[in-house]
Amino acid sequence: MAKVATITLNAAYDLVGRLKRIELGEVNTVETLGLFPAGKGINVAKVLKDLGVDVAVGGFLGQDNAGDFETMFKKTGLEDKFQRVAGKTRINVKITETDADVTDLNFLGYEISAQAWQEFVAASLAYCQDFDIVAVCGSLPRGVTPELFAEWLKQLHQAGVKVVLDSSNAALTAGLSANPWLVKPNHRELEAWIGHSLPTLDDIVDAAKKLKAQGIANVIISMGAEGSLWLSDSAIVRAQPPKCENVVSTVGAGDSMVAGLIYGLTNGLSQQDSLAFASAVSAFAVSQSNVGVSDVALLEPILKNVKIQLIEG
Ligand SMILES: Nc1ncnc2c1ncn2[C@@H]1O[C@H](COP(=O)(O)OP(=O)(O)OP(=O)(O)O)[C@@H](O)[C@H]1O
Ligand SMILES: [Mg+2]
Repeated sequence: MAKVATITLNAAYDLVGRLKRIELGEVNTVETLGLFPAGKGINVAKVLKDLGVDVAVGGFLGQDNAGDFETMFKKTGLEDKFQRVAGKTRINVKITETDADVTDLNFLGYEISAQAWQEFVAASLAYCQDFDIVAVCGSLPRGVTPELFAEWLKQLHQAGVKVVLDSSNAALTAGLSANPWLVKPNHRELEAWIGHSLPTLDDIVDAAKKLKAQGIANVIISMGAEGSLWLSDSAIVRAQPPKCENVVSTVGAGDSMVAGLIYGLTNGLSQQDSLAFASAVSAFAVSQSNVGVSDVALLEPILKNVKIQLIEG
């Protein structure tokens, strides 16, 4: 059985709510969907665990409000490798409007001191070697520069760790220099990386090819309801999920996709089957407010309706 760890350097509580339309500058009453211990790597781990994969979780947690995380790790059966740091883990606010656009208000959280970072690098380099895949997800906290981040990823790479990188902006760009094994930018993150808009599928494929040429074995581009593309060394595959009739919240769609991809790759599924499975897991995610797969049987009807197409190869 493959062993997987996920790393969340900038963990967060997600406060998720829904309302018809946000009126800027007004008082808005929000239907509360929940306050969840989250952060991208933790979301990925939760989904993997639901799919039957054992996962360890690491990164940083503020020691002042770690309680709900600890409870969730215990309840879920996630192995806790998080380093506690002074202060609180931040709360991010995610509001879904009726037409399913999510507005994220991401607050700044704890600041990582040079000493805490050194401790983390030493500890994670040691434990990450026990895992077949290490997924590094989300943004960087204050105190961790893109350069420090890239340096750490390079060390992981040199230690032979297969890194899955799901990040954006400067962290993504810097992280790409460290030869991750798999990356999953969304359409917008790909545009930001290449520096211009990518209006057509052909534009996206061309940009993704450039990204792959940086020396990355697997490039997956997610495009929301439009589905996804996977460029590997042998083929380019496109997946289109069925139209989700009842979009509750797209929060965690990308994280669910990363989990589905890791599941496929560690269970010996083909590229096509892995992408189809990841599409089903992520399409399922948009029909609920929280991440996770409560019952794997619920994926079956979605999976049957995922369209897979070989674009090249
Ligand atoms: N409305 C939808 N209907 C069906 N599937 C969807 C929908 N939105 C997203 N998905 C699935 O989820 C995948 C990932 O979504 P998206 O591209 O929005 O990721 P993301 O922007 O990285 O999300 P995140 O906010 O979690 O980081 C898509 O490739 C698609 O397979
Ligand atoms: Mg994402």
